[in-house]
Amino acid sequence: MPETATTAAPLDVLALRQREFPSLDGRRPYLNAASMGALPERARRALDDYGARRAAVHAMRGADFEPVLQGARAAAARLVNASADEIALAPNTSYGLNLAARGLPIEPGRRVVVSDREFPANVYPWLALAREGRARVDVIPADAFGQPDEARLLAEIERGDVGIFALSAVQFATGWTAELAKFGEACRRNGTWFVVDAIQAAGCVPLDVREARVDVLACGGHKWLCGPFGTGFAYVRREVVEALEPRVVGWTSMAASADYADCCGYRWEWVEGARRFEVATQPFQDYAGFAESAGLLLETGIERIRAHVTGLLEPLVAWLAAREDATIVSDLDPARRSGVFSFRIGDTARVHAALHRAGIGCVPREGAIRLSPHLYNTADEVARVIDVLDGGAW
Ligand SMILES: Cc1ncc(COP(=O)(O)O)c(C=O)c1O
Repeated sequence: MPETATTAAPLDVLALRQREFPSLDGRRPYLNAASMGALPERARRALDDYGARRAAVHAMRGADFEPVLQGARAAAARLVNASADEIALAPNTSYGLNLAARGLPIEPGRRVVVSDREFPANVYPWLALAREGRARVDVIPADAFGQPDEARLLAEIERGDVGIFALSAVQFATGWTAELAKFGEACRRNGTWFVVDAIQAAGCVPLDVREARVDVLACGGHKWLCGPFGTGFAYVRREVVEALEPRVVGWTSMAASADYADCCGYRWEWVEGARRFEVATQPFQDYAGFAESAGLLLETGIERIRAHVTGLLEPLVAWLAAREDATIVSDLDPARRSGVFSFRIGDTARVHAALHRAGIGCVPREGAIRLSPHLYNTADEVARVIDVLDGGAW
């Protein structure tokens, strides 16, 4: 497992806040990690320290470059149970999804399959293939609850003509958590590339690319990973690296560029491993911060974070379940739970406005209110949500 910390002990959120999230004082509950996580102090310090060295540019040292990137790749690898050589740093999720869409070989006549209701980042790169006439793309309708229709999607893969199947590990609007291993097995059996969008999972829901037989996984760093904007990574399974033809080629993709003093031989030889998919100069300072944020999550324990956030939401689940005018949109099966929780009560826009007036950070998504607490949130903050709803001022 990619976990390091024990999962049993509950989180001491107040101590954690003092150390890492001093700006979150509880007066304005921030329950919106599915949009953007809070940056921990250790990451902020890393960014500031890097900036200070950069300003006094002679203070820059060798360790500020490749070792920083290696640290970020290693942290990303631990988050998904991969090896660092299977990680390419990437500025967002879309980079990894486009890498897969552009580069995975797909035989003539084979289809791409995705689910309806996916976040558009995991749809447009596939639709682009259809527009170019490179593959038929089937967007499979969601089930009656608006979740990916697992049985139908598996049946599509079993038809044996699916070249690529792409799915989010956790759905952005409902938090529905996929049993990735089920899909991975079906994909492997049918010669289908399995591509996963992990941005709503990594940092809150354990991920294991080996167990789930994922070929390419794409993840941005600014949500549950609490990292700087513009950070993220793509995992490319070791055996897939050679098969995936980079469509965007840069100088750092090539082995011959490593010797800056003599780099004009232009030898066409990729660097080893997934690093070839990193195109050019990286935002080193941001990856220094990314590694710190990921380190905090890893040392806290991802399963422990999931237990914490789902536990925080329980009183709200109970309150909503007792109301005839409320609908819980999220699937309450423990295996399907994540940090994202959505519900409807009354007019969504009005309810959201009332929560916003009360200083609660949450968002309307697909006709529902979406809450997404993280490791830094407390039970009192979720109780505030119940107070506002109970007050009925909406
Ligand atoms: C499932 C999912 N994928 C991708 C993204 C974002 O993509 P990117 O990191 O490329 O901006 C989001 C949210 O913004 C998301 O919820």
